[in-house]
Amino acid sequence: MYNLLAAVGYGCEEDYNDSRKLVVENVTAGIRYFLVKPSDVAIYVEHGAADIGIVGKDILEESGADVYELMDTGLGKCRMCVAAKNGFVDDASRTLRVATKFVNIAKAYYASQGRDIDIIKLNGSIELAPLLGLSDVIVDIVETGSTLRENDLGVVTEFMPISARFIANRASYQFKTKEITTLLGKLAGDDQ
Ligand code: PRP
Repeated sequence: MYNLLAAVGYGCEEDYNDSRKLVVENVTAGIRYFLVKPSDVAIYVEHGAADIGIVGKDILEESGADVYELMDTGLGKCRMCVAAKNGFVDDASRTLRVATKFVNIAKAYYASQGRDIDIIKLNGSIELAPLLGLSDVIVDIVETGSTLRENDLGVVTEFMPISARFIANRASYQFKTKEITTLLGKLAGDDQ
C-alpha cells in the first residue's frame, strides 16, 4: 500500500523500514500510515481507526468487514479455487470434507451450491490436507499453480478473482469524500 501511494505523491520522508515505528506521517499531504498485518487492515478501516486501506479481496471477503470497496488496484492477482488430488471424483451423497484457511468464503461458496460440507480449518500448507486424507478438497488461493502441480493436485473450480482492493471506512468516506476521491484519481492515473 505504501509504495502504491508513495508513487502518486503520498510518500513520507521517513522510511518505515528504518525503524520499528508503526506510524509514519506526511504532514504536508495530511496522511498517516499505520503498519498492520494484512489480516487486520479491514478491521482498522471498519472501526474508523484508519480512513482507508488496501487489502486482498480474499482477506476482505473472509473478514466480512462492513466497508466501502472503492477500487480494484489490479495488484496481486490470483484466484480462489476448490482444488483436489488429480482424478478426484466428488460423491454428492457424502458430506464433503473441505480444508481451508478461508472458512467463511468456503461456507458461503458451498451454501450457494447447496452442498453439505465439514470444514477443517487450517492455518497454512493447506495442500497437505488432501494428500494425507485429512480432507477431500481444499479451498485456497492459486496464483501460479505451482504448489498444486508440485503436489499432484489440480483445480476443480475457480470461483472468485482476487486482487488488492482499495477500501474506505463508511463514515470517513462521507466526511472526506474530496480527499479520498483525489487520492483515488491519482491512483487511477488521472491528472487532477
Ligand atoms: C498461498 C496459497 C498456496 C500458494 C499458491 O500460500 O495458500 O499455498 O500461495 O501459490 P501458487 O499457485 O503460486 O503456487 P502462502 O504462500 O500464502 O502460504 P501458506 O502455506 O501459509 O498459505
